[in-house]
Amino acid sequence: MKKWNPKSWQKKIALHQPVYKDTIELKKTIGKMSNFPPLVFAGEVRNLKNELAKCVNGDGFLLQAGDCAESFAEFHPNNIRDTFRVIMQMSVILTFAAGVPVTKVGRLAGQFAKPRSSPTEKKKGQELDSYLGDMINAIEFTKEGRTPDPKRMIDAYFQSASTQNLLRAFANGGYADLSYVQNWNLDFVKNSSQGSAYKKIANRITESLNFMNAFGINSTNSKQIYETDFYISHEALLLPYETSFARIDSTTGDWYDVSAHMLWIGDRTKQLDGAHVEFCKGISNPIGIKIGPKTNLDELPKLIEVINPQNVPGKIVLIVRMGQENIKKIFPPILKTVTKNGFNVVWSSDPMHGNTEKSNSGYKTRNFLNVISEVKHFFEIHRSEGTKAGGIHIEMTGQNVTECLGGMQKISDEDLGNRYHTHCDPRLNASQSIELAFLLASSLKDF
Ligand code: PEP
Ligand code: CO
Repeated sequence: MKKWNPKSWQKKIALHQPVYKDTIELKKTIGKMSNFPPLVFAGEVRNLKNELAKCVNGDGFLLQAGDCAESFAEFHPNNIRDTFRVIMQMSVILTFAAGVPVTKVGRLAGQFAKPRSSPTEKKKGQELDSYLGDMINAIEFTKEGRTPDPKRMIDAYFQSASTQNLLRAFANGGYADLSYVQNWNLDFVKNSSQGSAYKKIANRITESLNFMNAFGINSTNSKQIYETDFYISHEALLLPYETSFARIDSTTGDWYDVSAHMLWIGDRTKQLDGAHVEFCKGISNPIGIKIGPKTNLDELPKLIEVINPQNVPGKIVLIVRMGQENIKKIFPPILKTVTKNGFNVVWSSDPMHGNTEKSNSGYKTRNFLNVISEVKHFFEIHRSEGTKAGGIHIEMTGQNVTECLGGMQKISDEDLGNRYHTHCDPRLNASQSIELAFLLASSLKDF
């Protein structure tokens, strides 16, 4: 095997990379970022890997959630707080239903670069580079805005550092206290129109907390109730950025990408001999691999072996994103092949990316029913194969946006324009996210 180094990917084909005109500025920026403090510590990454190892065989459950693309425009403490809060609410519901610890991983503090279906976009006769995420260029349709600018990586880093700082404060400073989170869930149930099944679940969680309290276990004396571990992740798409954060951990001598605890390889950049796989195989972080409907069954086992030659549990998360129709036919043979090979992987369901559609009025949207349907099929297929569904991966926000159709609020095509704020794919809003957790809870456990 040729020797890996953080730049060995440069000898391979790197898809979905911007072309920077100012290469001197690019080099300067990468040099500068190489001296920036890490956003995460390698010891935390190892903790995450240990938690994920439990999700391989059903002793844990992964909840990975957050923006499709973070943006400079939506950078606000309230947005970070609300997204964190909803992820915590979902995690309490899922912990109760699954009866196992839920590992919380945000698509946050670094999720700024996007693969696009077309490299250019045409509007009123003008053709410009597509928007590739705030880390690369601007969403404004102007020549200047769409020109990739290396300095944007620095802005993305500082926004990520600041976001991560607030997330750490929330996780350890009392905002994740179970009794608060449970009160938010009770409020949700109280205000929901069709919440009787949800009410039953919420009441049982309250009963459990009261029961523990009767034994003297509560947030004043139990760290497990007062605080939580919250991890960050993003797609390892923009390789110059990731290269700057590949560092040797002084305690183990291993390479880590310290821009996030977990990174994933997108469905479009997972070629076995491609640059993204080359970069990811050398770092010790847990690696997600998106599994779309066109996944090559011969190549997948090789890909898993390249990324995880020692078959370490907790290293690989396979994130299945087929679409609610495709999953029924395409997923079972994939699941069988991976199982037959004895690979230790976490199976996670991304019910978002295979269910994107254009609404009649022209918005890129997703129907809540299709999202639910894909997750349900995912669980059913695992049940019938005797394997473990280990997690979910969703695009959501804590804001009350109108980007996905349906849910309790019955968001219709006419509503989409009211609060459609996403910079990329449509996200579940706060209500739809919590509802998804309750629905999943009902199918995980018979209430
Ligand atoms: C994403 O997760 O935002 C994404 C682009 O997904 P995929 O690679 O699965 O299309
Ligand atoms: Co997306």
